[in-house]
Amino acid sequence: MSTYKIPGMIDPHVHLRGLDWSHKGTFASETAAALAGGYWAVLDMPNTHPSTIDRPALDRKLAEMGAQAVSDWGIYFGAAASENWRFYDDIIGDVCGLKIYNNATTGTLLIDDQSVRDQHYRAWPGNKNIAVHAEGETVLEILALVRKYRKHTHFCHISTADEIRYLTDAKNEGLPISIGVCPHHLYLTQDDLATLGPLGLMKPELKTKADLQALWDALESGVVDVVESDHAPHTLDEKFSGKPTYGVPGLETTLPLLCLAVHEGRLTMERVVDLVANNPRRIFGLACPPETYTLVDTAESFTIERGNLHTLCGWSPFEGMQVYGKVRSVTIRGEQVYDGEKILISNGFGQNLYG
Ligand code: DOR
Ligand code: ZN
Repeated sequence: MSTYKIPGMIDPHVHLRGLDWSHKGTFASETAAALAGGYWAVLDMPNTHPSTIDRPALDRKLAEMGAQAVSDWGIYFGAAASENWRFYDDIIGDVCGLKIYNNATTGTLLIDDQSVRDQHYRAWPGNKNIAVHAEGETVLEILALVRKYRKHTHFCHISTADEIRYLTDAKNEGLPISIGVCPHHLYLTQDDLATLGPLGLMKPELKTKADLQALWDALESGVVDVVESDHAPHTLDEKFSGKPTYGVPGLETTLPLLCLAVHEGRLTMERVVDLVANNPRRIFGLACPPETYTLVDTAESFTIERGNLHTLCGWSPFEGMQVYGKVRSVTIRGEQVYDGEKILISNGFGQNLYG
């Protein structure tokens, strides 16, 4: 039997775009990509245009997402250098968590002053997650805040052996943290930049073979909690411009790349289900709605091609790779929403999981 049933898959780290960046992707097109990738739900990052850092920007995103999304969804609020922690009590009921950018990336949300990070950690109310972009020794600076405030922190897109070591020690210390890794850091290294060119540029950047191996070891040992796509569409024109943008799409390739790992004997299917469904649901405080699941044919292999993608950007850094795991069907709250080819419901079907 090669059809596998996965309950409520959720990607807690995506950049759907929309708003003033709808030429890169819309909430309709990128949540369609989510369904095609097998996902029930996605959590959208705040480095949009405009950034999700105040009430008007959040309201605009809530309205546009509500009108367009075909998968279920949540929205992160973004920490800003402008003391926007003053708004936290007002917005906490509408968002899935807080994102703090501690190293440079797409958008304008970098916070590199530890005392400003401290203010945001102190002000964040309740127990929804703080998700952080932290690379290298910045991981240690964030761990100091987790130690001080004991607020659950999800470390996004961890990409090096050093970072895995810091975070393994932190888990052993009992700090309330979780770890996400991305498929591009599991399957690509800096050696691939020669062939990928700008299509291999993202933050954190591609690393060495030794780093890649450390991520696989941490996946297999159970130290890593989540595989997240960091789905970040940019147009081909932008990628091949004089100033290439950082980011790669990933919603439609994550599950097949993990099924490839199962096929190669590197992971079990049970572990894959933990990484893309059970663990992210638990970490982000979500129960699987009744009758919400994905059917994937784990034996069927196919080649990743841009012509088969739903993402508006229309390319993938994995084009040409032979993978396993064809998504046959996605059902949300009893309704079949994707049949392996087409989206079967209208824009706006998706619900805010934190509304
Ligand atoms: O490569 C990236 N692209 N990394 C990020 O952290 C942000 C993302 C984007 O928004 O394009
Ligand atoms: Zn990201």
